Amino acid sequence: MIAWSLPAFGINSLEQMQQDTPELRPGQVLIQVEAVSLNYRDLLVVLGRYNPKMHLPRIPASDGAGVVKAIGDGVTRVRPGDRVCGIFMQNWIDGRATPEKVRGALGGDIDGMLAEEVILSEHGVIRIPDYLTMEEAATLPCAALTAWNALVHAGHLTAGETVLIQGTGGVSIFALQFAKAMGARVLGTSSSDAKLDRARALGLDAGLNYRTQPEWAKWVLDQTRGQGADVIVEVGGAGTFAQSLSAVKMGGSVAQIGVLSQSSEPLQIPLILHKQVRVQGIYVGSRTQFEEMNRALEQNRIQPVIDEIYAFKDLPAALLRMQSGGHFGKIVVRVGAA
Ligand SMILES: NC(=O)c1ccc[n+]([C@@H]2O[C@H](COP(=O)([O-])OP(=O)(O)OC[C@H]3O[C@@H](n4cnc5c(N)ncnc54)[C@H](OP(=O)(O)O)[C@@H]3O)[C@@H](O)[C@H]2O)c1
Repeated sequence: MIAWSLPAFGINSLEQMQQDTPELRPGQVLIQVEAVSLNYRDLLVVLGRYNPKMHLPRIPASDGAGVVKAIGDGVTRVRPGDRVCGIFMQNWIDGRATPEKVRGALGGDIDGMLAEEVILSEHGVIRIPDYLTMEEAATLPCAALTAWNALVHAGHLTAGETVLIQGTGGVSIFALQFAKAMGARVLGTSSSDAKLDRARALGLDAGLNYRTQPEWAKWVLDQTRGQGADVIVEVGGAGTFAQSLSAVKMGGSVAQIGVLSQSSEPLQIPLILHKQVRVQGIYVGSRTQFEEMNRALEQNRIQPVIDEIYAFKDLPAALLRMQSGGHFGKIVVRVGAA
């Protein structure tokens, strides 16, 4: 079978390799992978900026969907023919995260999904909603679950509240779709007016171009009668955090997810306490939360937004597309020689 391997950091170092399928052991599942979606984290992994000490070679990518081809002795959770995704952290099944549970991240701690055949523990896979294509299902394990947790578990979002999304990448567009399905008002920023128009078509209530109008926190306050947003889906990191604290409502939540930007400005700690902000770090989520999200996806028939689907051989071009920031929603790679 063919797999993409990273023997050294850098997009140009990626190699397509012919590999033997590992032996299927008791409790394991062999998946014929059909599609993989890319996350910003996969780009950081390939560039060596996620974990410069990562053991190489490594098969990248956390998010893949496919069909169960065979099961090992004792497997009861899935059967051959089932359509499944791997879960991001193979050991985080339920409950709160622990250091043990967050070990075993696909495409990081262990080999990922950019291979025609992948073997995972039966506990590390989840059935995917019937109404989704393989390409759509491949977008769920990281970006969708992170957005779900930001709104539901960190933000405790309820209908009528206001959410701010930053940019129009994978996490943010899922957050937009979930927040609209939950009856929230959604404000959003983007580098591009054209992307804001596309987001409006998905339900965005108001948008601002942060390139032409960098003081977006003031705009959020204007949009909310000076109150601020109830939940901020914080993907910008250091370069946006200070404005997020200004833009969040008193007693509101900042779901801290991303690391897209830098800043040399000091942290505004007093704002956190004066406004009694809940700053909650998010690290994807558990399998149980994934199952919960899948029920919400099915109920609302939410269609993941795919920017572009690349052929397997074009993985480097797909990563360059992500690096350019030109995409809207998710970038997908179809797996297989064709
Ligand atoms: N903690 C977790 O569990 C977790 C899970 C998933 C992702 N993440 C992190 O969350 C971030 C987003 O991930 P992703 O996969 O959704 O990325 P992505 O699809 O590559 O989205 C990136 C988009 O963010 C926007 N952006 C870039 N810089 C920005 C800034 N300074 N302010 C506002 N928007 C900005 C841009 O959209 P526009 O062109 O529209 O501005 C860009 O296209 C990354 O840092 C990633 O590592 C963390």
